[in-house]
Amino acid sequence: MAVRQARQAPTAAPPRVGAPDADILCVDLVRIFKVASASGPGVEVQALQGLNLRVDPGELVAVVGASGSGKSTLLSILSSLDQPTAGVAWVAGHDLLTMTEKERVVFRRHSVGFVWQQTSRNLLPYLSASENVAAALAIPGQVRGTSARQARVAELLDLLEVSHCAERRPGEMSGGEQQRVAIAVGIANEPRVLLADEPTGELDDTASVHVLEAMRSVNRELGVTTLIVTHDPAVSEHVARTVQIRDGRTSTEVLRSTRLDEHGAEQHVAEEYAVLDRVGRLQLPDEFVTALDLRERVRLALEPDHVGVWPGQQQSAEASVVERAGNERDETPGPHDEPRPAASTPEPDPEDPS
Ligand SMILES: Nc1ncnc2c1ncn2[C@@H]1O[C@H](COP(=O)(O)OP(=O)(O)O)[C@@H](O)[C@H]1O
Ligand SMILES: [Mg+2]
Repeated sequence: MAVRQARQAPTAAPPRVGAPDADILCVDLVRIFKVASASGPGVEVQALQGLNLRVDPGELVAVVGASGSGKSTLLSILSSLDQPTAGVAWVAGHDLLTMTEKERVVFRRHSVGFVWQQTSRNLLPYLSASENVAAALAIPGQVRGTSARQARVAELLDLLEVSHCAERRPGEMSGGEQQRVAIAVGIANEPRVLLADEPTGELDDTASVHVLEAMRSVNRELGVTTLIVTHDPAVSEHVARTVQIRDGRTSTEVLRSTRLDEHGAEQHVAEEYAVLDRVGRLQLPDEFVTALDLRERVRLALEPDHVGVWPGQQQSAEASVVERAGNERDETPGPHDEPRPAASTPEPDPEDPS
C-alpha cells in the first residue's frame, strides 16, 4: 500500500490489449482510493500499483498476500463491483473497463460466480441450502421447469458433499458446510470464472481443507477457471499455481508439479519464480535484499544463461574493502573485476523454493 497526498489520477493511456485467450488478464492494473481527511487535504491510497496477472481457462490459481496487499480490491474489480483507476482487466472475454452498467449486471449473473469470506454474505439466512441454490438458478432462468431445477440443485449439493444440508438454513450448518453451499450457489449458473475472497478465512483447519478440496474438485470436474485470494499460505498446497501479491503487485509465483524420479516414485516439486512485467521489472525476494544489504541501486550483468545482480556502487565502496581482504585470502573475484553472482536466476533448486 502507498499513501500520499491527493493529486490527479494517472492519465497515461492504458496498454491496448485485444480480447485475450486467458480467462483473467490484468495488465498494469491500478486502483487508487481517495480518502477524505477532516484535518487537511485528502490522501490517496494506492491499493493496486500496476498489477499483472494471467489465468488461463481451466486453471486453479491462489493469490496469496498479507492483509492490506490489495487482494479484495483485485477481486472487487474482477467481479465488476468496482472499477480500476487505470490499466487493463479482462474476465471471461469481457473488458471490465468498457462495460456498460447493463452489461455488468449480465456479466455478474452469467460469467462469474463469487464466494466471499463472510459466510453470511454468501447465503440468504431465511432460505435452506436447496432454496439458496434454487434462487441462484431462478435469476437467469437457465434451468427451466421445477423438476429440472430440483435435479440441478440436488446435483450441485451432491458435488459439494452437502446433500445432508439440503433442508437446513445457514444458521443450522457449520461454517465449512455454509461455504460449500456457497460454492454450489457460485457455480449454479455455470460461470466461466469462480472468484473466492478468503473463502476459508472464518474456518478452522479441517473445514478449510475440506472447502479447498471442494473448490479443487469443482475446478477439475467442471473446468471452471478458479481464482482464490487469501492471506493463508497453506492454501498453496492445494493448488498448482500460487501468485504472491505484495503492495498491490504480483511479485513471485510458485508452481507445483508432480514428477517421477529415477525409481519411478512420484515427487512433488515446488519451484518459485519472480514475476517479470511487460517492461522488464521484477521484485527481488526480501531475503535476497536483506542477505546482501541491497539498497537504492544494484549492478546487473547479462550472462549467457542468467542475469547477475550485485550491490550498487555506494555499498560496494565499503564492501570492496571487505572483498579485497577476502581476495587476498582466497582470490575470489570482486565486483569490480569479474563479477560473482549475488542473486541470479539460474535453474531453481526444486528442494529449496525460497
Ligand atoms: N474503499 C476503500 N477506500 C479507501 N481505501 C481502501 C478501500 N478499500 C481498500 N482500501 C485500502 O487499500 C489497501 C488494500 O486493501 P484490500 O484490497 O482490502 O487488501 P487485502 O484484501 O489484501 O487485505 C488497504 O490499504 C486498504 O485500506
Ligand atoms: Mg481482503
